[in-house]
Amino acid sequence: MIPYGKHLVDDDDIDAVVDVLRNQFLTQGTVVPQFEQALCEYTGAKHCVAVNSATSGLHVACLAAGVVAGDLVWTVPNSFVASANCALYCGASIDFVDIDPLTRNIDISALAIKLQHAANQNRLPKVLIVVHFSGLSCDMQSIRNLTQMYSIVLIEDAAHGLGGSYQQSKIGSCAYSDMAVLSFHPVKSITSAEGGAVLTNQSQFHEKFKLFAKHGVTKDPSQYQGENHGPWYYQQLELGYNYRLSDMQAALGLSQLKKLDTFIQKRSEIAKLYDKQLANLPLKLPCVDPQSQSAWHLYMVELTQHDRQDVYQQLHDKGVGVNVHYIPIHLHPFYQQLGFKQGDFPLSEHFYQNALTLPLFPSLTDGEQTKVIEALYEVLV
Ligand SMILES: Cc1ncc(COP(=O)(O)O)c(C=O)c1O
Repeated sequence: MIPYGKHLVDDDDIDAVVDVLRNQFLTQGTVVPQFEQALCEYTGAKHCVAVNSATSGLHVACLAAGVVAGDLVWTVPNSFVASANCALYCGASIDFVDIDPLTRNIDISALAIKLQHAANQNRLPKVLIVVHFSGLSCDMQSIRNLTQMYSIVLIEDAAHGLGGSYQQSKIGSCAYSDMAVLSFHPVKSITSAEGGAVLTNQSQFHEKFKLFAKHGVTKDPSQYQGENHGPWYYQQLELGYNYRLSDMQAALGLSQLKKLDTFIQKRSEIAKLYDKQLANLPLKLPCVDPQSQSAWHLYMVELTQHDRQDVYQQLHDKGVGVNVHYIPIHLHPFYQQLGFKQGDFPLSEHFYQNALTLPLFPSLTDGEQTKVIEALYEVLV
């Protein structure tokens, strides 16, 4: 079965992890700070804190934004549940803005209307979390204009986006946001097995990231309240978590980061070939946005004439492991219990009904891609 996504780990990566295993520190050594520095250099963001998943990163980002019980956070339904769960971890409420059927990212006109309505009702969100779905950046400049108008903290869920760019900046640069969150899960642009990072250009958020990801504890005497007991001393200032990345994981991530541009290049070549070869099939292909270069985390198509379940099954029977992204968050039973219902966000629901994710990963061979394309022709024509 050709999977829809797969990591590519080589001998350099393995050596980098083994080096850490042979050294003094498995965690809290020097490799995590090196990885953080390298992520800043790559993305252009000023500050970075590596964490053990994007899920933890989204939680830390919400905590740093000051999200507490009674607050409201907005995101999109067309994402993995982590994009919304992070608000609930903080005791806040969640609401959604539907997607643009072309980009499958947040619909900016719908956002503008919903914000105006919320302002009239005095029920504006504290935070907006946008998702660069499949690796294609949202139109961050337009979104930033809106969030600034209403003083809303803007977080990029960039779990799909590392290696992509928007206008002149890399995704993760925070050029038009307060914070961005990356994922290093194995199907993502680079991997550290599990892992993630939170990025920002604002030092006050950076300080909060460090605190909330590390038990709320500081060892910086300038932050102490009261007496410093001595060199061993530390203080807990917030209720934080142990969301640290280990040095072993950071070594893998750092080694992978060196290959990120090659990975993205390969992903875009595969995507281009799909664009060309699938153009005559009854499919809606991913859109091209002149402002953005996608990281091509996912290659999504929408079926325009066929039943998705049937096509999914037939492709699997032929050894093509297509997948589906995403079950709209508000349709999960947990979210239905919170009061959301079918029909609330029809464009995300429609996309979900017809979407298929085709195999796309750097080590996909020409032969494998041909097999995927031929299988699609056999099933759809
Ligand atoms: C958009 C999005 N956000 C967040 C996450 C969570 O990432 P992680 O597995 O690193 O916690 C995912 C994972 O697939 C995702 O797709």
